[in-house]
Amino acid sequence: MTTRTDYLYSYKYDTHYTELCKLEMRQVFGFESNDKVLFSNKKVDPSSSPFIKGRMKVLFQASDYYELLSKVENENIHKEDFAVDYMILEGDTTAFDKRRIIQKDFGYRIEGEPDFQNPGIVFGVCFYDQVWYFGLLTHHNSNWQKHNQKPCSFSNSISINIAKSLVSMASMGNKDIKLLDACCGVGTIMLEASFAGIDIEGCDINWRACKHSRENLEFFHYKAKVYRSDIKELKKTYDAAIVDLPYNLYSYSNDDIALNIIESTAQLSHRIIVVSIADIEEILHSSGLKILDYCTVEKKGKSTFSRKLWVCERG
Ligand SMILES: C[S@@+](CC[C@H](N)C(=O)[O-])C[C@H]1O[C@@H](n2cnc3c(N)ncnc32)[C@H](O)[C@@H]1O
Repeated sequence: MTTRTDYLYSYKYDTHYTELCKLEMRQVFGFESNDKVLFSNKKVDPSSSPFIKGRMKVLFQASDYYELLSKVENENIHKEDFAVDYMILEGDTTAFDKRRIIQKDFGYRIEGEPDFQNPGIVFGVCFYDQVWYFGLLTHHNSNWQKHNQKPCSFSNSISINIAKSLVSMASMGNKDIKLLDACCGVGTIMLEASFAGIDIEGCDINWRACKHSRENLEFFHYKAKVYRSDIKELKKTYDAAIVDLPYNLYSYSNDDIALNIIESTAQLSHRIIVVSIADIEEILHSSGLKILDYCTVEKKGKSTFSRKLWVCERG
């Protein structure tokens, strides 16, 4: 049995987000997992990704169920207000009743008073690839989905899932960064960064977009700054930037606009994630950016509409 002593992440995503999720895995963890379970010694907040359902800090593992129970028992764990959850991973078909028995089995091996309603600490049990795992569980906090109710919307805004994943990729799991949304529109990306506790600023050339993003941020009591400016006028520096390019990029002059926005953003940040509905790879090359990674995200049920994402750094 391979011993894994780090963190186990469980993922959940719709098929049309597969490529996006894998790009996010590569950017955050440095590799992708072929299924919906990922092991890493890197600690990442499961709520920073739209796709991570939960994280277990693995304390014990065993290929035999009773061996794992003994390992837990022998540790004489004493905790008040604890709960034990069964973490269902891909391919695990353990029935509900059986899962409850397993939770009780482990719960009885922990000393202290349990609290099933509002636990202070949650232990987890799961079974994956013929191995049983026991550890400390952190669930995904799905409160960010309240952003779907933002007061100001825009028909071309990206979905909150893509916005959240962009923030996760830009920050690579590190919340202690300064992030820029270079073309913030109504602030979809800014809301996700603010929820994650990341210091983000936004910029948009259009006064109405700025007004709407400020209203959206205020609605959720976030304090991020929005500059009404052409990005080329902004004189600041950031650890990472996200650019969701204006969508009418098909004529020559609009290619020029895209190039200008990208070049100007590259002056402000070393790491840039660019989003476009057009294939702008040549523009990225002519801007001097180095493309590190790429994916396409199709819109659910609309195979003709897709967004392209490039992870770049200043060359
Ligand atoms: C595709 S929209 C961004 C949508 C945004 N991600 C959202 O979810 O609402 C592109 C935005 O770029 C802005 N924009 C265009 N040229 C710009 C420039 N030179 N500097 C800053 N913003 C610009 C547009 O006003 C528009 O709001």
